[in-house]
Amino acid sequence: MQEVKAAGMTELKGKERLIVALDVPTMFDALQLVDELREEVGMFKVGLELFTHCGTKLLDELEKLEAPVFFDGKFHDIPNTVASASREIGRRGVAMFNVHAQGGSEMIAAAQKAAADAAEAAKVKRPILLAVTILTSISQEILAKDFGETRQVEALVTHYASLAKQSGADGVVASAKEVEAIRKHCGKDFVIVTPGIRPEWASQDDQKRIVTPRKAVEMGTDYVVVGRPITRANDRKDAAKRIAEELSL
Ligand code: C5P
Repeated sequence: MQEVKAAGMTELKGKERLIVALDVPTMFDALQLVDELREEVGMFKVGLELFTHCGTKLLDELEKLEAPVFFDGKFHDIPNTVASASREIGRRGVAMFNVHAQGGSEMIAAAQKAAADAAEAAKVKRPILLAVTILTSISQEILAKDFGETRQVEALVTHYASLAKQSGADGVVASAKEVEAIRKHCGKDFVIVTPGIRPEWASQDDQKRIVTPRKAVEMGTDYVVVGRPITRANDRKDAAKRIAEELSL
């Protein structure tokens, strides 16, 4: 598989932009999917459900297959604990991982340093560190009701994206709607990864604010995360190939 590149440093090709969400219940299903799609896509996202089911054995297996991994563990804890977890990620040669920006600058910086140091010691490439700003499940109403927060979602998203950048993160996970504002605040070398992607030929499922793969790239994202349009397609390889083609502008 190709080497993972950070945005801004170089032009990404269509398939390099494509991250497939391994939202399947078992290790067997996940490895089967990886085997089927590895030539068509750039990276595989391991989320909390699959990781909680399989543990680090899954990461070992993906490493054996040389499949680039986005570890979507969304760490959020005291800096020392997040640093310890990030060290574990860094030494494994994971391509990308993430933390909640709301953990604060000290926590983000600790994650970056621990992962980079561990990667260097293990002689593997350091992972790209992404921050999650405001979860897309948090509405303006929930912000007010649960957090007593009256600022607009977009203002908070750009605030946390800027905080993440200043604290040493390489980029953020952001909905297509947020990409333009983040680009404006954080510049072209800041990595943006966007879920909620649906090609015109795919079902919308439970996603509310979707964009097509092409539109996401036009809006300025670097990588897209795609799950069900590929994992539930009749021909998964063909679905991945078509999306990668659409990402090659
Ligand atoms: O199947 P689908 O393409 O909707 O999957 C999208 C993936 O991206 C899922 O793993 C989902 O948890 C993740 N995600 C998302 N929206 C966010 C953050 C992550 O859909 N805001």
